Amino acid sequence: MRKKIVAGNWKMNLRLEEGLKLANDIIAFVKEHPLKSLKGKPEMILFTPSVHLSSVATAVGQTEGVSAGAQNCHNQPKGAYTGEISAEMIQSAGATNVLVGHSERRSYFGEKDELLAEKTKIALEYGLRPVFCCGEVLDERNEKKHFDVVRKQLETGLFWLSEKEFSKIVIAYEPVWAIGTGVTATPEQAQEMHAFIRQLIKEKYNSQTAENTTILYGGSCNAKNAAELFANEDVDGGLIGGASLKADEFCAIIKSF
Ligand code: PGA
Repeated sequence: MRKKIVAGNWKMNLRLEEGLKLANDIIAFVKEHPLKSLKGKPEMILFTPSVHLSSVATAVGQTEGVSAGAQNCHNQPKGAYTGEISAEMIQSAGATNVLVGHSERRSYFGEKDELLAEKTKIALEYGLRPVFCCGEVLDERNEKKHFDVVRKQLETGLFWLSEKEFSKIVIAYEPVWAIGTGVTATPEQAQEMHAFIRQLIKEKYNSQTAENTTILYGGSCNAKNAAELFANEDVDGGLIGGASLKADEFCAIIKSF
């Protein structure tokens, strides 16, 4: 059975003490409402700024079903890359996940799928779970190229992995036009793309791998619209930006399965 996940992407927000308070409020919620007892037995991931990572990972500790993650990692193991963080550093901070290819990394930092393939590889080498982001911009959807765009991102970024390696990946479909805009994909648009992605995995690997892959939706997902998005057969949870910055709202989303 594939996992249901709600992941918070804090982006470049919150002072350290604010981030720790948010994490502690979420942890307190989970202690009161064990994730195992919720419908779908979801997992939670907190993708924090790298400065917060060690403190948040320590606060999370052994809280069942909750883990911490970094928002990016470098494609090289170490060296003279001023300002960057490595997969090994993320692992040593106690985090177990890393976002790869978020659309903001793609657009503001020019990250291409070839580079993202290398980041995925090194993340796996250090035992991190990559959450690989894909998604089209509005013009591509208007020109009906969205399926081709996502196929190309996955083919170059992920489909060179062995079946065993691929089984450790989580995919996040985030239409760029929905990120931070308040315009959410309709449940039908999300389901259509998620089913397409699952079909691609089936063609590349096999039905079982496709069935077991967690595919998250991201883009203006919040406590009001999460339930109708998550109700779709191929939508296994969400990657949440703005709505992950308030514990109440984020914890309401985890109850939306
Ligand atoms: P949003 O961001 O929920 O604020 O749209 C999602 C994301 O960028 O992962």
